[in-house]
Order: sequence, then C-alpha cells, then structure tokens
Amino acid sequence: MLGLKLLTDPRWANVAESNLEEILTDHAWCEQKAASNAISLITQNCEYEDLVHELTAIAIEEMEHFQMVIDIIKERGYTLGRERKDDYVGRLMKFSKKDGSRNQAFIDRLLFAAMIEARSCERFRVLSKNLQDEKLAKFYHELMVSEANHYTTFLNFARKYTEGTDVDKRWQEWLTFEGELIQSYGTKEQIHG
Ligand SMILES: [Fe+2]
Ligand SMILES: [Fe+2]
Repeated sequence: MLGLKLLTDPRWANVAESNLEEILTDHAWCEQKAASNAISLITQNCEYEDLVHELTAIAIEEMEHFQMVIDIIKERGYTLGRERKDDYVGRLMKFSKKDGSRNQAFIDRLLFAAMIEARSCERFRVLSKNLQDEKLAKFYHELMVSEANHYTTFLNFARKYTEGTDVDKRWQEWLTFEGELIQSYGTKEQIHG
C-alpha cells in the first residue's frame, strides 16, 4: 500500500480501541501538526505559486480534520489532552537531509511530509477495517482517502521541483528506512505509536 514496506498488524486497532480518548487526543494533534507543517512549507517556499495554493488547501483541510476529531472528543464526553510527543515523526525528521543545497532540503522536506501522510493513511485504513465502533470506522475511512491525496500532492511536488535529486531513488530510501523504523511501533494507542 503506497509503497510501504511493512503493513501494521491489525491487532494495533484493538489497542487503539481500548483507549479511544487517548488515540483521539493523539490524532487531533497529528492533524494540527500536519496543518502547521503545510503552513511552514508555504512560508519557506512561497516562490512556487501552485505549491502555495495546494498547501493552503491542505492546511485548511487538516484543520477541518482537527475540528472533526475535537467534535468527536466532545460528543463522547472525553477531554482533549495535551499534545503527545510523536517519537516516530521525530525519527523521520532526523533521517531527512538538512545539509546539501536548499533544493535538496526542500525535496526531502516534501518526502518527509509524503512519508507521514502515507503511514497515517495506512493506519487510518487499519482503524477503518478493524474498529468495532462503526461510526468511527466510517470516519477513518473518509480520512484515509483524504490523506492518500495529500501523499500524492507532496510526492508530485517533489518530482516537479527537484533540481537534480533523483526523487524516485530517494523515495525508495525513505521507504526502506521507514520500513525498518516502523517495526518498533504498533503497540501503543497513538496514530504512529
Ligand atoms: Fe488530515
Ligand atoms: Fe494529511
């Protein structure tokens, strides 16, 4: 799925379902961070007009997702907790290239975003297929489709704006790294946990 090297064990959905307040809190902040990430990409790369337009739409959509999640939290009588640390994303951030040219860093930043969208999409799929709660399962199916589109957008911009980086080769390196990394996750009630 989306080139991912390792799929999540469906039993992770049971872990998530055992603590919905926790997974929903973590999920809400994932959406907020996705919006913030899109905004900072816009700020740093405003010379690309189409990127500014598409990432503005993504930032708005991610905040709409945030709103949907906090509405669910409220409906169910839960409380939105503080932002959870995302160890998985921190490890991906460390893998991204910050040295080299400005363009190389920009391309890797886009691939970093595509990677998180791909895994989030896969995790939402696992939730949509395995949650007992039908309403939430349907919700996660809708979000899965949306995150798959974001993944495509980030990857396409990387291909469009590369100045010499072999994007497909670098993307394979990302997939390989992520495939190893994800082996140590899948046990916690976090979207990337
Ligand atoms: Fe989202
Ligand atoms: Fe997204």
